[in-house]
Amino acid sequence: MDRLFVTGGARLEGSVRVSGAKNSALKLMAASLLAPGTSVVRNVPRIRDCAVMGEMLEYFGMRVRLKDGVAELDASEVHDVEAPDELVRQMRASIVVLGPLLARCGRARVSMPGGDEIGARPVDLHVGGLERMGVAIRSEHGFLVAEADELHGASITLDYPSVTATENLMMAAVRAKGITTIDNAAREPETADLAAYLVAMGARIEGAGSSTIAIEGVDELVPAEHTAVADRIEAGTWAAAAVATQGDVTVQNARPEHLELFLSKLADAGADISMSDAGLRIRQVSRAHAVDFVTLPYPGIATDFQPILLAMQATAEGTAIVTENVFEGRFLYTGELRRMGADIRTEGHHAVIRGVPRLSAAPVRALDIRAGAALVIAGLVADGVTEISDIEHLDRGYEDFDTKLERLGAEVWRERELVTLP
Ligand code: EPU
Repeated sequence: MDRLFVTGGARLEGSVRVSGAKNSALKLMAASLLAPGTSVVRNVPRIRDCAVMGEMLEYFGMRVRLKDGVAELDASEVHDVEAPDELVRQMRASIVVLGPLLARCGRARVSMPGGDEIGARPVDLHVGGLERMGVAIRSEHGFLVAEADELHGASITLDYPSVTATENLMMAAVRAKGITTIDNAAREPETADLAAYLVAMGARIEGAGSSTIAIEGVDELVPAEHTAVADRIEAGTWAAAAVATQGDVTVQNARPEHLELFLSKLADAGADISMSDAGLRIRQVSRAHAVDFVTLPYPGIATDFQPILLAMQATAEGTAIVTENVFEGRFLYTGELRRMGADIRTEGHHAVIRGVPRLSAAPVRALDIRAGAALVIAGLVADGVTEISDIEHLDRGYEDFDTKLERLGAEVWRERELVTLP
């Protein structure tokens, strides 16, 4: 396992280009199962999760070519419907093959995604919605086994606007007989991006991006081309790193309309934010002020921003209260920040952060993608060299993270683990 070393003290300066959104590209790749023939998805980030998705689709019989951010996905043949355990365990997002496999083949066997470092993450909303569409689902030997002679439209109200449940239901409904409505649907930009791709394939979808989505099933879908939306979480990561280091960073390709509340928090922290043809510029000239925030489904502040904003505030002036409403286990990583001298107390789904003038470098572990990014931000404002292990979590979600950091003036390097052969 690789380790990343971050020298503290640099002020991030310059321009950085955000990649395509992981949480869009993965679903676009999975949706390609729906149309026999070759679809093309552009702006696919070169990260491990997308490679794992490619492997999984090949396992089903698709031919996948991933090169330079372009995925060519030939779904002429789909001969297997089992998402194997070893791949699902590497990437919980694998659950999004359930909807398209059912729509294409009428059957799917997906290894049950386990809990992970950010909470229990059940799949009851996926299951309940699909059952309403006529799918029989059972759990068998650690697999979700789903079968339907025919998918039919249904009226579904989600208890909670789950992102991947909304996406799975949408991908199943595009081939169901009749009309499906999903109420209390996820409104994330990545979900709307998926809907746009499905529409390009011939699907009939209205309301994507709002909390009611209506889908009229069609008899066939055809291959399409689509460019994945820019990664708002990556854009926010650079913006928060600019604030923490009192830097001046222009984020190219960012979509500020997807970051409204997040940017308003940075402005409250003291950042000067402007948008021009060059991109989204974030400039911070003095120590940030502490700002309270609450995570919520979109358009609220994304839970994925929580560790990043919290790390940014570890050295802010004042005390902030953070409430995590989406994943119950998403404060685990704060133990790592505490090792670096951060003053953070957590109680249930609240955290209190009292800003300290400086953190101190320590060996720490990245527990998940965003926790990894948070530790990098902390490392940038710590005295000494922070050593982050389990960095493969960061690599699952961020393309060329170290290179981009270096270009912004940070001193980072990676130690690759040498595997000794017997
Ligand atoms: N939930 C249920 N039942 C379900 C599904 C979800 O109770 O059937 C609960 C979850 O336990 C959680 C909440 O609903 O408390 C939200 O979960 P959601 O289903 O919306 O999350 P997800 O679809 O599993 C996606 C992203 C996450 C992101 C969340 C929230 C993908 C592949 N993943 O996960 O991204 O944090 O939405 O915005 O789209 C990441 O990129 O690092 C990441 C974790």
